[in-house]
Amino acid sequence: MTAPNFNNYIAATSAPSNIAIVKYWGKKGIQEPVNPSISFTLSKSITKTSISYSQSDRDLSIDFLFEGKSKEAFIPKLKTLRERLINHLPFLKSGSLKIESSNTFPHSSGIASSASSMASIARALYNIQIQIDPDVTANDKQAFISEMARLGSGSACRSTMPGWVLWGETQVLSKSHNKYGISINTYIHPMFNDLQDTILVIRKGAKSVSSSIGHQLMENHPYRDGRIKQANKNTELLLEALKNGDFEAFAKVSEEEALSLHGLMMSSSPAYTLLAPESLRAIKRIIKFREHHHIPLTFTLDAGPNIHLIYPKSQSKIVLPFIEEHLRVLCDNEEVIFDEISLQ
Ligand code: DP6
Repeated sequence: MTAPNFNNYIAATSAPSNIAIVKYWGKKGIQEPVNPSISFTLSKSITKTSISYSQSDRDLSIDFLFEGKSKEAFIPKLKTLRERLINHLPFLKSGSLKIESSNTFPHSSGIASSASSMASIARALYNIQIQIDPDVTANDKQAFISEMARLGSGSACRSTMPGWVLWGETQVLSKSHNKYGISINTYIHPMFNDLQDTILVIRKGAKSVSSSIGHQLMENHPYRDGRIKQANKNTELLLEALKNGDFEAFAKVSEEEALSLHGLMMSSSPAYTLLAPESLRAIKRIIKFREHHHIPLTFTLDAGPNIHLIYPKSQSKIVLPFIEEHLRVLCDNEEVIFDEISLQ
């Protein structure tokens, strides 16, 4: 973070990606979720963002560079974000904004880059605003930044804090909110404080159907009501499992959520699937291996074909050779990414 120089301001920030165990799938209003979701924030998959802003009277101009190259395709998203934030961050009315981002992880590899990217942009914009006018500070800075990130991409609101995060109202936690994520680290049994997330990159490349379209297809989905009920129930079950250190119950929710997410895609209108044959092959191998060795090991899927293998660090000794011998071979170019929960 640096001090202002006349009418130019700069801020450099970063934010990690996260992986949801209970999935956000379907929205209402301005990017509010139709159901609660729970994720853990990663530690190595990070977006770094630096923003430079020059004040002027002209309507705001936005430039965006990703890994050193201008990326026009991201501008409409940033313009929407600006519209949504202008009341919170008055400096966005005018001037010129240059945003430069880069990721520490490969693109389109099954790690949610919109989450880390929008979370780091929200942090940087907040930083610029308080340099210009320190009086704009929020009562609850953490909630405010999470809310701003959510307005860029829903899941990004869970990337603005470390560890376990709950986003969306649930009757079991009165502090829960649709507008921002809340940290639930104080409720978590130590069993879940060192979880590994090993990403099997089954297929690299952009998804054929984006998550934004997937969310839209939930609006008239024939199973919409059932899905909302299921996610609420799974939120309760997951919170219980996380509190009690019950890995079996955790794994049950994780796998049900992952497969339901893809089931919802396959039963949307139009229907689609993002899974690849190797995704299913990997899932079968993981379940068989777990049944044989009786170890805490589970998986989840994001909106794509890649598998997130989840296990406590203590199991690495047995899981790593399994990955090398039976799972790496199913991956695109044999690519596997090792990440884990971030605790700070
Ligand atoms: C399947 O947050 O990417 O990853 O709000 O439209 O930007 P927008 O969607 P996004 O959706 C993520 C969906 C998910 C599940 C999750 O992370 O909870």
